[in-house]
Amino acid sequence: MTILLPTPKNIEGASQILQKGGVVAFATETVYGLGCDTFNLDAIEQIYALKGRPKNNPTIAHILDASWAHELTEYWNEQCDQLAKAFWPGALTLVLPKKERVPKEACGGRNTIAIRSPSHIVARQLLESFGSAISAPSANKSGYISPTTAKHVEDEFGEKLQIIDGGACEEGIESTVLSLISTPTILRPGTISEADITKIIGKVSLTNPCEQNDSPGTTALHYSPHTATILLTEKEMNELNDGDCVAITMNGAPKKAKVQIQMPVDPKEYGTQLYSSLREADAIGAKQIVIENPPSTRGWSAVLDRLNRCASNL
Ligand code: TXA
Ligand code: MG
Repeated sequence: MTILLPTPKNIEGASQILQKGGVVAFATETVYGLGCDTFNLDAIEQIYALKGRPKNNPTIAHILDASWAHELTEYWNEQCDQLAKAFWPGALTLVLPKKERVPKEACGGRNTIAIRSPSHIVARQLLESFGSAISAPSANKSGYISPTTAKHVEDEFGEKLQIIDGGACEEGIESTVLSLISTPTILRPGTISEADITKIIGKVSLTNPCEQNDSPGTTALHYSPHTATILLTEKEMNELNDGDCVAITMNGAPKKAKVQIQMPVDPKEYGTQLYSSLREADAIGAKQIVIENPPSTRGWSAVLDRLNRCASNL
């Protein structure tokens, strides 16, 4: 049995796997994670091997709350406290200088570590039972679409991996990654927006993830379906006349498509459904996936970021 209900017995079983240096997948509110003991080098290696992930792409250490941060980070200041109070548990990841004792391998060879306290009950129960930090990248093969259901994880990793099911992820898009190494800088947009963070700590910088190298997991060619994928305007979508493509639409209506997947017009709801829709579209095996580009307004920045990179496979 690979997909397990989050009963106390199964949580305890998953925690024992982690203690023995193994790997388990589990639900978070953003996407499913592929977790292991942050302090176990062999386990970290297994995660990179399973995902086919480049060794220089660091992983996020998940913690129960801010009181666990001192195990991992060199310091924890007033600004960290304010951010944790405002957004934890939740979808904000903080990058800070790592403590000497944290293996570099868990941080892609860096001197910094990304930490986040997830809000999903499954992730929290697992952390509580394990009692120490769990490093967990998204539970997908490197470069492919992140998983938002236990079935998505099973589809990629098969039945050997234990997956603690927590239902469909409520957020559906990975956490916002905020570096506090120098000027606070958003390395990866997420549902916690620049405006949300600015309200708490003042102005933050934004990087162009396609151009920067501070967060290697945010370079181009990520979150990509195997099927060639392009973005279209609403007008272009209305003119689409192609019986061998999957159209992921919002306001537009193609003249002809093999399959049409209708997305919500609200950015949060769109984000929740995005990865499921991309996986569904990819599974159809059409010649092409065409996606109607949402508006370029602030509320859409996390979705646009993922769409722009998922469509860079042309
Ligand atoms: O919502 C999430 O963040 C999910 C769930 C499972 O928590 N996790 C996730 O992990 O998306 P992953 O490994 O797929 O993405 C982690 C991102 C990558 O872009 C990585 O480069 C960046 O965080 N990151 C991790 N550690 C970092 C560090 N020390 N410095 C800069 N970026 C870092
Ligand atoms: Mg990922």
